[in-house]
Amino acid sequence: MQPLRWNGRTLDVLDQTKLPEHEIWDTCDTYELVAEAIEKMKVRGAPAIGATAAYGVAIGAQQGRELEKGEFLAYIDGVCERLAKTRPTAVNLFWAIKRMRGLIESNSDLDVPALVDLINREAELVAEEDVRLNKTMGQNGLPLIPDNARILTHCNTGSLATVDYGTALGVIRAAQEAGKNVSVYADETRPYLQGARLTAFELHRDNIPVTVVTDSMAGYLMQQGMVDLVIVGADRIAANGDAANKIGTYSLAVLAKHHGVPFYVAAPMSTLDYEMETGAEIEIEQRSSDEVVFIGGQRMVPEGVPALHPAFDVTPHELITAIITDKGVVKHPNTDTMSRLK
Ligand code: MRU
Repeated sequence: MQPLRWNGRTLDVLDQTKLPEHEIWDTCDTYELVAEAIEKMKVRGAPAIGATAAYGVAIGAQQGRELEKGEFLAYIDGVCERLAKTRPTAVNLFWAIKRMRGLIESNSDLDVPALVDLINREAELVAEEDVRLNKTMGQNGLPLIPDNARILTHCNTGSLATVDYGTALGVIRAAQEAGKNVSVYADETRPYLQGARLTAFELHRDNIPVTVVTDSMAGYLMQQGMVDLVIVGADRIAANGDAANKIGTYSLAVLAKHHGVPFYVAAPMSTLDYEMETGAEIEIEQRSSDEVVFIGGQRMVPEGVPALHPAFDVTPHELITAIITDKGVVKHPNTDTMSRLK
């Protein structure tokens, strides 16, 4: 199930806040609506956010089609700035915007209508490439997945988090397509419940056996020998292999280390940020505490009691068995081994 539908002019976004109960598509015909869809997490997941932002620039460019050249260039700069302010952690957002800006800069001799068409085509390329790279990543990760593997995953890293196929779920999908008979434990992933609502939804639809567990059950499962490997996605990976991902990922990595369970991170090269030396530099999005306090509109925390909501955490590279990318697999990630991917 793909999260985005592009008709060449407008973008329909599947509202992931309403899944699995309701499949509601919102039409974005302005870049502001695209920005709001990212902010409100109607679309989420690092690669999906990147592709959505690229389409946002394309929609913004169409909105500015009538402007005179100088005005258009200044205006499109503002479009990029607005989209860049939506969410801070997933580097794919900034990667996509930088790519669109680079295209505009190197073609600034074109007239506005030609530039608008070029921007449109580039956004389509970003989306097309994402699917291809995810499938390559799936093949690269395949040798790491044993037959009959019982796999623990966190958050949602599937079709819904990308343009299609998925990153960590893409590797799981590839293993299933190769007949490896895998099964999945999906962490519920409080507070947004990407695991319970989205991963379970996707895998169930695709006939990949999935069982939902609460985040706090991971230690028990590993202690009971019920998990053969953990695989997760990433929102930003620093030059030394430290990986930011959905809050709770770090705890899983510590547990996996303690129990001798391999811990894999799957992410496309667009998630690597070589400008950040270590994960300590990665900005962690702090979302509204209301998302912790209320579940489905029901208050879970007494009034007057504060709640925290860091949306991501950073897993140090020493806890990661291997990072799977579209360019290859890096075992024992560190600054040296990661630099070979460049
Ligand atoms: O807050 P979200 O739902 O956008 O966070 C998503 C994740 O943390 C995913 O694990 C990550 O983006 C990798 S998705 C392919």
